[in-house]
Amino acid sequence: MEEPTHHHLRLILFPSPLQGHINPMLQLAHILHSNSFSITILHTKLNSPDPSHHPHFTFLSLDDGLSQTESSMEEDIIELTRLINVKCVDPLRACLRKLLDDQQVSGTGERIACLISDAALYATREVAESVKLRRIVLRTGGVSSFVIFKEIPMLLEKGYLPIQESRLDEPIPEIEGFRVRDLPAMKTASVERYYQLLTSMVEETKASSGLIWNSFEELEHSALDTLCQEFSLPIFLIGPFQKYSAASSDGVRTPDQSSIAWLDKQEPKSVIYVSFGSVAAIDANQFLEIATGLADSNHPFLWVVRPDLVRGLDSECHELLPDGYIEMLGGRGHIVKWAPQQEVLKHPAVGAFWTHNGWNSTLESICGGVPMICMPFFSDQVINARYVSHIWKIGVQLEGRVEREKIVEIIKRLMTGNEGEEIRKTMCQFKEKVQVCTSAGGSSHNALQNFISFIASSSPLDLERIT
Ligand code: UDX
Repeated sequence: MEEPTHHHLRLILFPSPLQGHINPMLQLAHILHSNSFSITILHTKLNSPDPSHHPHFTFLSLDDGLSQTESSMEEDIIELTRLINVKCVDPLRACLRKLLDDQQVSGTGERIACLISDAALYATREVAESVKLRRIVLRTGGVSSFVIFKEIPMLLEKGYLPIQESRLDEPIPEIEGFRVRDLPAMKTASVERYYQLLTSMVEETKASSGLIWNSFEELEHSALDTLCQEFSLPIFLIGPFQKYSAASSDGVRTPDQSSIAWLDKQEPKSVIYVSFGSVAAIDANQFLEIATGLADSNHPFLWVVRPDLVRGLDSECHELLPDGYIEMLGGRGHIVKWAPQQEVLKHPAVGAFWTHNGWNSTLESICGGVPMICMPFFSDQVINARYVSHIWKIGVQLEGRVEREKIVEIIKRLMTGNEGEEIRKTMCQFKEKVQVCTSAGGSSHNALQNFISFIASSSPLDLERIT
């Protein structure tokens, strides 16, 4: 076999410290490492990954400067992300300077090729420029939501944003298939700051040297076309990342393997898998409606109930379940604190995924060929849900209040009947497309090869150009 020419190149990766962002960045790191790059992961103290899960990488902790109160602000991820962008600037600059200085004196011949930072860490642009290091951006969400984020200034100017309750069902002529209720929204200290953060993310992404997506062309070609009209930088859709490497735990939370043993005992395509990701939270009443709706659906279900799933609860979520609930199910329901989700979605017993439509969950569902019940909570989830249910037609959306009768009905709609059948067929086609695009000669596979050449062919002279 030909010796790879880039074995002397080191890539510095900087994920945003939220679960849905750390996972894809680490997956990308594994993909690049298996293509002979050396990897350094920079991380904040908050949610730091467990290095023992990734023995081939070098981990460097940055002093994020977040106080205890600030670090525990995961309920307001916008304010948290904004703070990280403010506070990471100096420590990141010092760290990159040191790494660049060390490479000169080390004599190993190894060269730092670039920084790959999460799009949400928009402040990395000025830092990378100040130390003359190329900056590539990983956007962990979809292209489709990004092109809507790009329109935020227009949506604000035309008065669609901030969202007004009275206009929820109004169509937006500027964005085909979208209503006001499908636009990004977020509960945060200041909604203006939220839109400002998204706009900064778009602008600073546009100013990067290259852009990687955990997505694939066959899914997002129309959004990609729109993006390419305005973004004249190299763009690489190399996802879904999970297709390149076995599911690896980031070590932030431990998946409960009893999920798989329980699934093994269920009929094919019978189980509703329910998980709302790592951040979204519900209130006690919604929890009760979900528990009752699932029980009344008569389908087996696997439900992820994170300890912080129910907002403002001092006791265990289980205590909110009706008396005798578990006994009444007689083994038909299995509740865990955290599931090995990628494995679950590949399991033959799973027939539907009731999801919040975080981008990772959405992609993982497509990889597993599992149709979705969409219940988005905020931000890009709302856009992803609209795409899944109305544009890609691989799921149905549960809108409005969460009520047990509606839950029973939507499960029935998806699991039985013609609509569900059509959705399953379309989902199967997407699953096959994933297989093709990540195999030799497929779009994502080619994009990965192009990305590797792009990095490997950059000489130190290229670095001068960004100044
Ligand atoms: C966050 C944002 O909320 C979302 O809008 C954005 O698209 C990504 O980041 P998050 O709640 O983390 O979303 O959801 P998601 O993107 O779906 O990522 C969750 C990850 O956790 C997935 O990779 C999923 O496999 C994993 N997971 C979730 C588990 O491994 N086990 C579980 O029980 C639940």
